[in-house]
Amino acid sequence: MCRNMKKLILAVLVLFLANGVFGFETNGVKSVLVMEGDSVPLYTCQKDTQKYETILWTYGSEDAVIAFFSRGKPFSFPDGNERFKDRLEIDLNTGSLTIRNIRTNHSGVYKVDMTSTSGSPYIRRFNVTVSAVFDPDADKIIQKVVSEGGSITLNTDVQVQKDVLILWRFAGTKPGVYSRNSMTTICKIDGEASEEFFDHGENEKFKNRLDMDKPTGSLIIKDIRLEHSGFYKLQISNNTLTRHRTFNVTVSAVTKSCLQGTWMTVAIVFMVSFVIMVVIVVVIQRNVWFSKGSTPSPVKYARPDERE
Ligand SMILES: *[C@@H]1O[C@H](CO)[C@@H](O)[C@H](O)[C@H]1NC(C)=O
Ligand SMILES: *[C@@H]1O[C@H](CO)[C@@H](O)[C@H](O)[C@H]1NC(C)=O
Ligand SMILES: *[C@@H]1O[C@H](CO)[C@@H](O)[C@H](O)[C@H]1NC(C)=O
Ligand SMILES: *[C@@H]1O[C@H](CO)[C@@H](O)[C@H](O)[C@H]1NC(C)=O
Repeated sequence: MCRNMKKLILAVLVLFLANGVFGFETNGVKSVLVMEGDSVPLYTCQKDTQKYETILWTYGSEDAVIAFFSRGKPFSFPDGNERFKDRLEIDLNTGSLTIRNIRTNHSGVYKVDMTSTSGSPYIRRFNVTVSAVFDPDADKIIQKVVSEGGSITLNTDVQVQKDVLILWRFAGTKPGVYSRNSMTTICKIDGEASEEFFDHGENEKFKNRLDMDKPTGSLIIKDIRLEHSGFYKLQISNNTLTRHRTFNVTVSAVTKSCLQGTWMTVAIVFMVSFVIMVVIVVVIQRNVWFSKGSTPSPVKYARPDERE
């Protein structure tokens, strides 16, 4: 009993020491908040992997092995785990793991278990939460002007590859205010899942107006309205890097030419109506004439007896 107690205390002490920085952790789990598309390093906070016999990185509640090392052999990434294919990178000196181009379904608990020759284990846990928060430091703003009722294509200038994730967001008209809540993701292209989807935004603002150029992921807005003026944010992530772009779309109201068009339409409608009215009047008059002309006939022929 007493021995077990001692063992427990020792184990707890070892855990405390091994975890090092403790202040940022809850129950020994370090919280990591990142954005979709990020490269996320999970640090072991150890300097020399050579002193460990084995290093084991696992993921999720089933502790699926995603990276493994045993002394004298290179690091290996088990093939079975499709989700992390071509995504993982190990720092050979520290054993730290980097997940590139992370997606929301890579959220979860990651664990590194390092066993040294002396036998004392070193364990670190990370609770990774992946969310789609926009990076406000977009490189430059591409100006676009389009007439109301026209259509516009916002180009990605890339080809959709298997590992690409393209997100189109509408950020409204206030530059600089790009909080997560003020932006609507209106289009998403996931090369990996080969799926793409549109969201019409609040009040169905973009309903039946969005389209996409599939090979490039460029966004097409059709029959554009004044309310669609504003900043459109593009995020392109692949397993190597993430890029951002901003488009400033100005929808100009259509004035003179449209009015002329309207007047022309009114004039045509007026003329057509006039012609139809004339035709109707003529027809009615003819009918009246015919009925007048035909009514006397029976009289004419019905009364021969009377005449005689
Ligand atoms: C991980 O973080 C999420 C959100 O921050 C939380 O809901 C969840 O309970 C955490 N899980 C663990 C095992 O700490
Ligand atoms: C993770 O998400 C990607 C893209 O959405 C999908 O292709 C993949 O199958 C998902 N993996 C798992 C294990 O759910
Ligand atoms: C990732 O994207 C960049 C820029 O869009 C491109 O230059 C690079 O070739 C892409 N990498 C892969 C592996 O497709
Ligand atoms: C966006 O376009 C509008 C109209 O052309 C212009 O007034 C505004 O300065 C532009 N904003 C930025 C940040 O480029």
